[in-house]
Formats: sequence, C-alpha cells, structure tokens
Amino acid sequence: METKILKVASIFENPDELQQAADILAQGGLVAFPTETVYGLGANGLNEDAARAIYRAKGRPSDNPLILHICDMETLPQLAREVPSAAVRLALEFWPGPLTMVLPKTSQVPDAVSGGLDTVAIRFPGNLIARELIRRCGKPVAAPSANLSGSPSPTTAQHCIDDLMGRVDAIVDGGICGVGLESTVISLAGEVPTVLRPGGITVEQLRKVLGDVQVDPAVTHPMAEGQKAASPGMKYKHYAPKARVILVDGNQADFAGYVNERKADGVFALCFSEDIAALEVPAVCYGGEKRPGEQAHALFDALRRLDDQNAQLVFAHCPNQDGLGLAVYNRLLRAAAFDVVRL
Ligand code: TXA
Ligand code: MG
Repeated sequence: METKILKVASIFENPDELQQAADILAQGGLVAFPTETVYGLGANGLNEDAARAIYRAKGRPSDNPLILHICDMETLPQLAREVPSAAVRLALEFWPGPLTMVLPKTSQVPDAVSGGLDTVAIRFPGNLIARELIRRCGKPVAAPSANLSGSPSPTTAQHCIDDLMGRVDAIVDGGICGVGLESTVISLAGEVPTVLRPGGITVEQLRKVLGDVQVDPAVTHPMAEGQKAASPGMKYKHYAPKARVILVDGNQADFAGYVNERKADGVFALCFSEDIAALEVPAVCYGGEKRPGEQAHALFDALRRLDDQNAQLVFAHCPNQDGLGLAVYNRLLRAAAFDVVRL
C-alpha cells in the first residue's frame, strides 16, 4: 500500500493535510499521528474492521486491547457504562493530557478494541493536532503506539516511517513528541484505583487527587508463569531494540567500572550525560541522571539509535524510580526483559 506523508506543522498552518488524514480515518483507513506522549496508529474506534486492521499493520497480538482517544468529555458516557466520581476528578485534573482510564465499557465499543474484555481504555490527548484530527474524523480514534509490535514506541514521524511505511495509509508528521513515553494507564474498574502502566502523569500526582492508588506489581516485577495480566500489554516483551539489554543499578563509578571491564565489539552503554566521560565503550546518552523528564523524552529514540549503530549488548544505567522515573524504569525493565544487575 502507498503511505502518504502529511506534514502538519500546526492545526492552523496545514488544515488541508489534517482534513485528508481525518477523511482517511472516517473511511476506515489507518493513520499514524502525533500525540504529546508518543505517535499513535489510529483507526475509527467504532468500526470493528478498521480496528482489526491496526493489529495486522503492527503485528500485534489480538488480545492486547487498544486505547480509544476522544476530543471532548461528552463522548465519555457513550463509551463507558459507568463513570465513577474518581474518574470525573481525574478527568478534571489531568485531561486533556497523558492519562488513560480503564472503565467498564458500553456495547458501542467493538470487541476488536477492547480485546474481548468488558472494560475499555479511554484517553483525551493534550496534543492539538491529535485533538483536531479526532474532531474532524467525528469518531473516537482507537490508537496503540505506532511502532511494530515489540519495538520501541515512536516519538518522531521518522520512527513511524521506519516501522510502518507501506503498511498504513498515512503518517501525519507533527514533529517530536513532548513527553516521549506513553500515557499512564489507571484502572477505575476495580475497588481501588490501580496503575497498570506508569507514564506522563505520576503516581504521586494521582495520589494527590484520589488518595489511595495502588501500583500493579507487574509494573516493576516479571509476571509469574500462568498469572493473569491486569493489563494484557504487561505480558509481552516491549520497547526492545534488537540488541540484548542489561539494566545495571549502581553509582557512576561502579557503572563505569562494570561496563569498561566488559568492553568488546558490539558492547554499548545507554547512560546518563554525567557517565560519558568515564566510559571506554561507545555510549548513547538518555538524559541527565537527575532529570527524569529528559530521560523520558530521549529514551525511545536512544534505543532506536543503538540498533542503527548495530549494538549487540547494551548496558543501561538504571534510573531513579521517583516521579516520572518510575515510567522510565518500567520501560527499561521491559526492554531488558527484567535482566537487572545490582552492583
Ligand atoms: O500514550 C499512549 O497511551 C499512546 C498514545 C498513542 O496515546 N498509546 C499507547 O497504546 O501506548 P498501546 O496500545 O501501545 O498501549 C495501551 C496499553 C496496553 O498495555 C494495553 O494492554 C492497555 O493499555 N489496555 C488497553 N485497554 C485495556 C483494558 N481494557 N484493560 C487493561 N489494560 C488495557
Ligand atoms: Mg505500545
């Protein structure tokens, strides 16, 4: 299939390109588009066939449900059977923005979107291009991250081109994503609000609004054999470059010592800017040690650059887990398939 690249500098400068993208979605096609977190691969979220096409284009397992993206609060009751007061409070505080809420679904939501579950994940993105695209399409837009299943999520249009050229109808080029990691996913369908995936809105921010918030153990620990995932996405290997990644937890000197001892062809470091000077292997930096926002913004591009440089074995310096750091840590744990060395 031919993939159109539609450059949208802003909703004011390129309304025609945006309309073309919206028309493709309305006609059942697939469009990759920017959000404030990562690029999404969108389809009309109320059209079963269109949603199924997303799984084919990404090579995604069919039991891993999609997020429905909306551009106003009024759409929420059409998709969610119950909207508990906790959801209203979170929406008022964090929407539009990088927060996804899992709620009991209505019969309008196709099985292909919810992966056969009786809940649905809903997000009202902050990015203006995303919102205007959804508004012009006139339907909620189902969109997972716009990468091939298993590889790091895309934070630029070029990442989408690298993964999806020839597999989707269009890619909207709207620049670099601000946050750089996917939205926080919180389930409000059970008794206690539970974070299923940490992201742009931190656990600390959620607790300020709701009080009691749990973090699902699968956020930081591998799932036991046969255990049922609260979020199907948790059971798959994710965010991984082709190289083997090992997460190394230790201070600057110990990290450099450990990595330098293992110097060999194809060995790389994924590290903080403060680490570079002491390293004797090629290194890709993913931000400052005390700057989780910078790390979140840079991580996925850094993982892709390691592939471009043919890295075989990557020692990644483990981030601090406070605030946005928990989301960075969660993605790196999965990129490393939970292979962690503690120095
Ligand atoms: O920032 C984001 O959330 C990006 C942008 C495009 O909006 N989207 C994204 O989608 O990251 P995706 O499909 O890559 O991740 C969605 C996650 C998956 O882990 C999935 O298993 C989980 O949300 N999820 C979706 N529906 C769910 C549900 N009903 N119950 C539990 N988990 C659900
Ligand atoms: Mg994804």
